[in-house]
Amino acid sequence: MNILFVAAELAPHAKAGGLADVAAALPQALAKAGHSVSVAVPLHRNLKKSGEFRRTALELQVPVAKGTWATRVWQGNRGEVSLFGIERDEYFDRPHPYGEGGGDYPDALDRFVFFSRAALELARHVEPVPEVLHANDWHTALIPALAAAVHLPMRTVFTIHNLRYQGEFPASDFPRLGLAAEMFRPETLEFYGKVNLLKGAILLAHEVTTVSPSYAREIQTEKFGHGLHEVLRGRSMHLTGILNGIDEESWDPGADSALEKPFRPSSLQGREKCRAALEAELGLEPANGRPIFGLVSRLTADKGIDLALQAAKPLVSRGGRMAILGTGEPGLEQAARDLAESLPGQVAVRLAHDEELARRIFGGADFFLMPSRTEPCGLTQMYAMRYGAIPVAADTGGLHDTVEPWNDARKTGCGIRFPADSGTGLRQGLDQALALWDEPAMMKLARQNGMKRDWSWGAAVPAYDQVYRASAGLASPKGRR
Ligand code: ADP
Ligand code: GLC
Repeated sequence: MNILFVAAELAPHAKAGGLADVAAALPQALAKAGHSVSVAVPLHRNLKKSGEFRRTALELQVPVAKGTWATRVWQGNRGEVSLFGIERDEYFDRPHPYGEGGGDYPDALDRFVFFSRAALELARHVEPVPEVLHANDWHTALIPALAAAVHLPMRTVFTIHNLRYQGEFPASDFPRLGLAAEMFRPETLEFYGKVNLLKGAILLAHEVTTVSPSYAREIQTEKFGHGLHEVLRGRSMHLTGILNGIDEESWDPGADSALEKPFRPSSLQGREKCRAALEAELGLEPANGRPIFGLVSRLTADKGIDLALQAAKPLVSRGGRMAILGTGEPGLEQAARDLAESLPGQVAVRLAHDEELARRIFGGADFFLMPSRTEPCGLTQMYAMRYGAIPVAADTGGLHDTVEPWNDARKTGCGIRFPADSGTGLRQGLDQALALWDEPAMMKLARQNGMKRDWSWGAAVPAYDQVYRASAGLASPKGRR
């Protein structure tokens, strides 16, 4: 089918989290399977500077609340996938896709209303004409409503990458959306007196997906629904959980120039060098036969970072080392900084966004910590497993669907799972990790199992194909899984 994929991020140049990786990888996988795929993104500063996009003659007339803005389209290509950058320097020529210091820029609503409207205009010019507009997360959640309002013949599919971020604004902001007043009601965008863009997309998209089967189930419960569980339940016949994959070409420990030495499941000597290089790079004292625990994450409560920081001291007292890379909530950044200062040489913290270092942590740490309280899918545990770091992960969402617990008797599995949202649970997980570490042969098998597993987008592509066809009425919706 002809698909226009619309997202606020695109790896590697405009990335805040996993959405960027998905926006880069899924369209490629769909195109390889024979779909005709274009991707629309805001022309963020780093995308404009990347040289990947060139200015075209195409100028869109984008209706906004105050009139119409002429907007230049930039274009690029990755293989068979066409990339379209929507230029508006006043909105997108900024250092970060969303905002510096963890929060959103104050004009977030206007930025993404504009982008969504521009993407809709773009859809009228893309060749071949898209049959499906595939929007992602709250930034583009207005698209199904806009498409419905103008009776666009195209179908809309909406993917929830994280239900926490809903695009909620006071009712007084509704006029900024440029929709008729009748769209502000409980059947559409109104939620407890506020504008809720995500709710609108859940109700108005032809099909809704989220990024793992477990998360699809969880978000229909009060505990994980962030208030929208009933809305989601009402659409359960049109809600499908499709597990993300990873781009196995870009994430290949056998050919990753960020690593000290390449390595493969069958020859792990290079990995030893990577481990030693990581210790040296981060100023960690040699672990002397004890394991290194890596963590690469946005530093937020949802990611359970407070739990990981609390676990550090007991872990270090048992000889472990910790390598933490992340940015996020100022309180957690400070707590991480304090921890590193109190345990020098044993806990290393880098408060930065550094993809190369992330790769060296995946390729050098023995275990990878992921104590998320909630995790829609999670990509880092998959990167970690592909690079031979064994995940110690909370049993929630996509972590449940990807981290198969190591089984000593059957010698199957590739990770450790523990009950989510509990310090005791994490301690149990760490106990299991240290026990596995003491059995080097088992440790190696678990590592190799993770490295050898198929983490590609292969299984997701037919599932998206089914959703696209269901959106067009060409297949029956899959419904609850
Ligand atoms: P989320 O999207 O919730 O942040 P994911 O696991 O899906 O979680 O994706 C996170 C992505 O961001 C991964 O590609 C991860 O490697 C990357 N990442 C997170 N923090 C950093 C950081 N500080 N430096 C480099 N990459 C990071
Ligand atoms: C979100 C989720 C993460 C998921 C990513 C890509 O940011 O928090 O779990 O892997 O999107 O879908």
